[in-house]
Amino acid sequence: MEETATRIKELRGILNRHNHLYYVLNEPVISDQEFDHLMKELETLESDFPEYYDALSPSQRVGNDISQEFVQRDHKFAMLSLGNTYSKEDLADFDIRIKKLTENQFSYICELKFDGVAISLTYQNGRLAYATTRGDGIRGDDVTNNVKTIKSIPLVIRDKGVPEYFEIRGEILMPRDGFEKMNQERIANGEIAFANPRNSASGTIKMLNSKEVARRPLDCYLYLLAGEKLPANTHIENLKHARDWGFKVSQHMEQASNIESVYKYIDYWQSEKSTLPFDIDGIVIKVNETEVQEELGFTAKSPRWAISYKFPADQAETILDSVDFQVGRTGAITPVANLQAVLLAGTTVKRASIHNEDQIQQLDLFLGDTVLIEKGGEIIPKIVGVKKDKRPIIAMQVQFIKYCPECKTKLVKISGKAKHYCPNAGQCPPQIKGRIEHFVSRKAMNIDGFGTETVDLLFQQGLIRNVADLYTLKVEDMLGLPGLGKKSILHLLDSIQKSKIVPFQRVLFALGIRFIGETVAKKMARSIFSMEELLASSKERLLEIEEVGDKIADSFLIHISIPENLEIIQRLTDHKLQMESDMRNTSLSEVLKEKSIVVSGVFESMSRNELKQLIEHHGGKNISSISKNTSYIVAGKNMGPIKLEKANNLGIKILTEQEFLDILEDKNS
Ligand code: IVH
Repeated sequence: MEETATRIKELRGILNRHNHLYYVLNEPVISDQEFDHLMKELETLESDFPEYYDALSPSQRVGNDISQEFVQRDHKFAMLSLGNTYSKEDLADFDIRIKKLTENQFSYICELKFDGVAISLTYQNGRLAYATTRGDGIRGDDVTNNVKTIKSIPLVIRDKGVPEYFEIRGEILMPRDGFEKMNQERIANGEIAFANPRNSASGTIKMLNSKEVARRPLDCYLYLLAGEKLPANTHIENLKHARDWGFKVSQHMEQASNIESVYKYIDYWQSEKSTLPFDIDGIVIKVNETEVQEELGFTAKSPRWAISYKFPADQAETILDSVDFQVGRTGAITPVANLQAVLLAGTTVKRASIHNEDQIQQLDLFLGDTVLIEKGGEIIPKIVGVKKDKRPIIAMQVQFIKYCPECKTKLVKISGKAKHYCPNAGQCPPQIKGRIEHFVSRKAMNIDGFGTETVDLLFQQGLIRNVADLYTLKVEDMLGLPGLGKKSILHLLDSIQKSKIVPFQRVLFALGIRFIGETVAKKMARSIFSMEELLASSKERLLEIEEVGDKIADSFLIHISIPENLEIIQRLTDHKLQMESDMRNTSLSEVLKEKSIVVSGVFESMSRNELKQLIEHHGGKNISSISKNTSYIVAGKNMGPIKLEKANNLGIKILTEQEFLDILEDKNS
């Protein structure tokens, strides 16, 4: 027993060290195979001797499938943001401001401004206690399980000099190469690509399934140590200590004794940023000396001792060759510019989006124009200007089309909306194919082996015209089709069969009804337990569902008023897809039958969503605003004063969390 404990401890130490060598220092000393071998040994011991379980063991970085709702956590030190500047003049003002406020000597530390998502890590006795997102700066979401999967973050720190309690702040980001690779895989799987590494990092860290997070190539750079007993009295020394404790701290920090040196650092990184493996969107300048920092203090929003300088968006000039008009899954028409290839922020650009007709008119675009393109937040850049002086003498103005480029139907434009639509939803090929691609995608029916090309092929062959046709596909229909071997056909059919166990909420999402995304579908399925009941629901009933407003309710009702759509739903039901929510079976009691309940504030023992689920499982109905028909209000901490007043005026009973739980208990026994 003693020996086992020692070996487990030893293995954890060895694996932690190799993780650090590999993910932080980039200097692995053993092969992946050797690493896996040691990990296997640890996993075997841990599973044979569960009494030695430790949530921070290196074996616990793989995440799990348990879907979690995040608990909110207060920040001990508020997570402030930085003031932004865009010019050297602004920075000169910052420098003057500081010199007016302090007599002390000080220097600046220049750092990269990582373009990811902020995180605060709390360590107690050398162990990661929790990881919290910025949230509103005062409190954020506890995302510890997701953060644990990032291998460059130490879970346990061995160094003797570590303060008993400290917080370290930094940025979670996705390096560009990992991002590109992940996006290619997503596209191949028929999933939607992420727009940029930042969105992808922030989307990933908020995912409910930590096992999926573990598959995403996240990294984390730390840039601020916070706590009452820090090891040094300068920012840079504190970060160097953090580096010694195993954190990833950028090697590109530089000390600057005056503002001119800061400008040099800025100029350097403005031109060299594409040589970094990750995106930065500017530079951060911080006063180095803790004493001076304290003297300068904070404004309501940000420290006076630090500021960021944001780089201007990358721009490039090129020639507009032609304009294509693309038809999306919903029939929306998007003009896309074909450009002469040009280098922009490290990538070659050949296409740019021009959102709609108004944009074409505003830019006053002609074919052959020299255009200015800019990288914004989206995947493809946009055209932001035209060099009219460079326009060829004979040039044709870009005209918006009148008919669908795919099915030749006359386009429609709803007044007040910017986009044109092809109304031929039932027959227009890209709309049909788009709906099928959405249906098979991972978050919907998760039908594996069904990329864009396969959908294209089966559509061209006339084998699938809508999503219900998938369930009548046969081996003999597909044998002999180009690029589809027998093995892939069998795999495809197998995945289609397996999709029949996908839960109702995802089937609902998979139907691709406008405005009914993943979250709304989930809410609908939690409130109305079957397709049959949904189809029979009135608008009023739909509006009672959390997050469902006029727009969503109307969209659903319009969708099911179309006979073709109803027929598809009927066929999917006949093919035994899940058309009932498993929520029905989780009904625990009828204690709250016919009770309309408003939930407000923050709760101790569960998240607000969990509480709402509990209400539904006990037969109650969640409503969002207080009226005379409200039966109870369950009030947690920080219930808004306006709600409180309204409740008192109407004489509605207010229950504490405990009183509410007591009601459920009583009737259960
Ligand atoms: S320091 C109290 N340093 O920029 C100052 N922030 O508004 C705390 N960021 O979302 C911030 N790189 O996540 C600091 N080297 C760096 C940074 C950095 C990126 C982000 C930060 C926050 C925003 C500041």
